[in-house]
Amino acid sequence: MAVLGALSMTLEVPDVETGVKFYTDAGLLAAIEGDVARLRCEGQDRDSIVLLGGRAKKRLHHISLRADDLDGIAAGVAGHGGRVVAAPDAFEDNGLWIEDPHGMLIHLSERVADPELAEAPAYEINAPGRLIRTRRSAMLPGASYAPARPLRLGHILVFSPDVLASVKFVTEALGMGLADRAQDIIAFCCARKDSDHHVVAFAKSPGVGFHHASFQLADPDAVGRGGRALHAKAGKGDWGFGRHTIGSNFFHYIQDPWGSWFEYYSDMDHIDDYSLWTPTNYEMSDSLANWGPEVPHDFVHNYEVDPVREDA
Ligand SMILES: [Fe+2]
Repeated sequence: MAVLGALSMTLEVPDVETGVKFYTDAGLLAAIEGDVARLRCEGQDRDSIVLLGGRAKKRLHHISLRADDLDGIAAGVAGHGGRVVAAPDAFEDNGLWIEDPHGMLIHLSERVADPELAEAPAYEINAPGRLIRTRRSAMLPGASYAPARPLRLGHILVFSPDVLASVKFVTEALGMGLADRAQDIIAFCCARKDSDHHVVAFAKSPGVGFHHASFQLADPDAVGRGGRALHAKAGKGDWGFGRHTIGSNFFHYIQDPWGSWFEYYSDMDHIDDYSLWTPTNYEMSDSLANWGPEVPHDFVHNYEVDPVREDA
């Protein structure tokens, strides 16, 4: 019984048009049906983000994860402080719907794995004693590059009122692994086989909520270019270009229309076999980034709990 990867996240939002504009500017493809918008990565046949419009404010509805042995998970959920629930109204009664100990709704399904991504061109860096690129430029003029197209949803970070309790639930009830954490403030969990460093992560907050969804791009240049372009279109905050200590990924975060975040990433640590991985408990100084610009004042603010705060 185990979670195998991230599938999607579903948000309640005031209007889907605002969200569709933001996520299509980010490079996702949209399908709108009434008050529901579905966004997916080019080349994939499934949704990565679902927006439920006409709601009072942005709020995390649920996250959706790929898993196996749903019967085994269902049998153990209550013993770990969660509960099996009915499918919400207007959602298919397939897979397994559960609430974690903090009431966060999680949908688990036995969907088949996405096809392998095509191999990206080698990312070549000249370095002392290692000249691997000669007689040609690494970079083309900026206008030569196509807009960023996310390859896949890599991970979802949610708020939790008790990060270590959330980790205990997903590791013991859902068969995930704790990859790394920084004290009891932020923690990163992976699947136990062939996983990105993190698939679901938790950041401490007075209540549950959605913090960010992260989409993979081919290389650090694509992250930098894509982040700048989306920031210019979105017109709100950003954080990046930078590199995380925990997970090692290059990142650029762009603030979405509701104060939460969208991340482009590349080059994340990969855990092929969790039994051979040793989690580290990092100091808070490494909790957010190894290097990068100053962190925005509201980067870890949960607007779903405290919607009026605009300035720290
Ligand atoms: Fe992230």
